[in-house]
Amino acid sequence: MAKRATFLRGEYAGYRAALDRLAADEALTRVGPGTPGGEYLRRFWHPVAFAADLKDVPRRIRVLGEDLALFRDGSGRFGLLALHCPHRGTSLEFGIVRERGIMCCYHGWAFDVNGRILETPGEPADSTLKDRLWHGAYPVHEFKGLVFAYMGPPEARPPFPVYDSFELENYRLEPWGGNVLPCNWIQVKENAMDPVHTAFLHSINFTGSFGVIPELDFRENPLGMMYVGVRRIGGNVWVRSTEMIMPNLHQLAPTFETGETPKTFSRPMQSIWAVPLDDTHTMNIGFNHYDEIDPPDMERYCLGTDFGQMPDRPYEERQRLPGDYDAQVSIGPTAIHAREHLGATDRGVSLFRRLVREGIRDVAEGRDPVPPAQRAEGTIRTFAHDTIVAAPAMDDEAAELEQLRRIGREVTDDVIAGRYPR
Ligand code: FES
Ligand SMILES: [Fe+2]
Repeated sequence: MAKRATFLRGEYAGYRAALDRLAADEALTRVGPGTPGGEYLRRFWHPVAFAADLKDVPRRIRVLGEDLALFRDGSGRFGLLALHCPHRGTSLEFGIVRERGIMCCYHGWAFDVNGRILETPGEPADSTLKDRLWHGAYPVHEFKGLVFAYMGPPEARPPFPVYDSFELENYRLEPWGGNVLPCNWIQVKENAMDPVHTAFLHSINFTGSFGVIPELDFRENPLGMMYVGVRRIGGNVWVRSTEMIMPNLHQLAPTFETGETPKTFSRPMQSIWAVPLDDTHTMNIGFNHYDEIDPPDMERYCLGTDFGQMPDRPYEERQRLPGDYDAQVSIGPTAIHAREHLGATDRGVSLFRRLVREGIRDVAEGRDPVPPAQRAEGTIRTFAHDTIVAAPAMDDEAAELEQLRRIGREVTDDVIAGRYPR
């Protein structure tokens, strides 16, 4: 099998390209139990559902290639159990939620939220089976309306991370999303580190200032990485960073920012996880952040409620005005990286993939892939922001470019070092 696409060097060369037999990078993209990527992803907490959707019946969900039953018992505790009853396999989505735990509908075996078998009513009174056997369960944590699960080895479970952007004064968090894209998580998530697509795909629905391709840099930070987009807007230099909190959470600064008013370290508009449901299905879910200065039509700017995040428009209209869904899903169920021809603007995508590979290697070699910053006491410092600095343009083009780069570098150094807010 060819390693990379043939680099075509002539006209009408389709025949040569069609002979390439290229495959997806399995180690990077597979998410199931025991796969390298799946083991890496299992070291982190992932949002799997909205708390408000859990009423008196269980929900069948799929996460990281596993089928599970999620429920809230009568005493308000969340349970996330392997879908199939350990007796003879009936799905617990048909289970009966009880004051304590859930009962299988078929023969009445009952389970606590931690997997303890509470009852095996058909067994002899002196049976010890229920005291010896456990059912598969995962820890669950509810936070501000989202239900999170940890599906990794119990001894490696990190504390639930609370980011500073979740606890800002005057901001309100609202759970958002749940839309599923029929493709692999890597091609969904790397989009967040591809700011150039904004100038093309989104020039139609973001503010005019986003149509300017920024001067770009990509930086690693204690939680992962961020891009630094620097734009000249009149007498201001606008530094905008979206961050990637590894492995699959990104936070973006407001897309309604215009760069016209100087400001320091304005905080994110959204926090979005791409949760792999299986190898070729990915759920976008997270929080919208609202503060008192947000525009009244704020929803318009948020991914997911914005157009183009789902195939919810007529096909021909999507062809004429495609959105993120069309761009990401049309790559195919799993992007074949060997087919790509990465350019200078893809540095963020390459860095993201490298960080995922490093995390996978950490797990494979017995190291903890959770960065120390994510185990910090209290809230965890994050890095997405807009900072707008008054700085007149320079006449000399080279000097102006140097100025943009310098301001971008200095602001980002301050942000990473925690010198904001001042
Ligand atoms: S299959 Fe669940 S109790 Fe028998
Ligand atoms: Fe986009």
